[in-house]
Amino acid sequence: MVSYKDLGLVNTREMFAKAIKGGYAVPAFNFNNMEQLQAIIKAAAEEKSPVILQVSKGARNYANATLLRYMAQGAVAYAKELGWENPQICLHLDHGDSFELCKSCIDNGFSSVMIDGSHLPYEENVALTKQVVDYAHQFDVTVEGELGVLAGVEDEVSSDHHTYTDPEEVIDFATRTGCDSLAISIGTSHGAYKFTPEQCTRDPKTGKLVPPPLAFEVLDAVMEKLPGFPIVLHGSSSVPQEYVDTINKYGGKLPDAIGIPEEELRKAAKSAVCKINIDSDSRLAMTAAVREVFATKPGEFDPRKYLGPARDEMERLYKHKIENVLGSNGKAE
Ligand code: G3H
Ligand code: 13P
Ligand code: ZN
Repeated sequence: MVSYKDLGLVNTREMFAKAIKGGYAVPAFNFNNMEQLQAIIKAAAEEKSPVILQVSKGARNYANATLLRYMAQGAVAYAKELGWENPQICLHLDHGDSFELCKSCIDNGFSSVMIDGSHLPYEENVALTKQVVDYAHQFDVTVEGELGVLAGVEDEVSSDHHTYTDPEEVIDFATRTGCDSLAISIGTSHGAYKFTPEQCTRDPKTGKLVPPPLAFEVLDAVMEKLPGFPIVLHGSSSVPQEYVDTINKYGGKLPDAIGIPEEELRKAAKSAVCKINIDSDSRLAMTAAVREVFATKPGEFDPRKYLGPARDEMERLYKHKIENVLGSNGKAE
């Protein structure tokens, strides 16, 4: 058993309590490689922002579970080296799909886990989430549950439709499971294609798609039922069009990629939404930077020459999210 406390990590309890009170959201950035982790830690350390390092089942398989744990431990040491005296870093399992996977993460240094039973019948979701909570809380590990289904792909769980969270279920779910936070569905979705062109209008000047608004009325109803309870938004990448354009300019093919407008995330961050998940934007930043080097400097074959610019671009992106969208800068001095 490796306790996250021995690795210098923290769970989400205090992070979320402060975020709700302070009207900001904590960034949850996914990582599966060294450059992403370096960029996340540099951005968080320079901004003095609490941060959630998020690892999916796929990322854990890709990077190796043991190596990942040491990377997270190294991230705490690196943050201190960068001058962040009291780093507020959480290591979180994203979209855990079984009790066994959650247990394995808890036993191996994770300070927080998500059990995603959103695709299950309600009673099964309650039972599975409660089983994970009962185990996790013995070790002071916090647990995120999910109610409502996001469109797109949730790891290996596929759903091609939105089912908004039913506000009538949230009190019962939170009470019976004992979960520490709740991911809800209000129209966000995973990946770089969050809306079909048919769901959008088109800006006549730029030709770019304009997405429909999120269902803030569902968020409001959830907050009314569970005042002060930490809410999580998945699928919150904005799909910056400058990255999409760079990727397409240099041989990529991402037609009509579209995300959540930053104004909507800014509004959400001021509410009980205290964790905002961002993965796709980092993938886009990395891909755009790498494609640009490949296209403009075809003689380069040293990975540092293309992964370095990718890392710099991700750091810029993370700082922008922290400062201009989530408002978490300066909240973990
Ligand atoms: O919500 C899913 C995350 O973006 C992780 O994606 O399973 O491809 O690592 P992944
Ligand atoms: P994006 O695909 O919008 O970045 O969402 C990531 C996410 O929700 C990870 O759980
Ligand atoms: Zn997600």
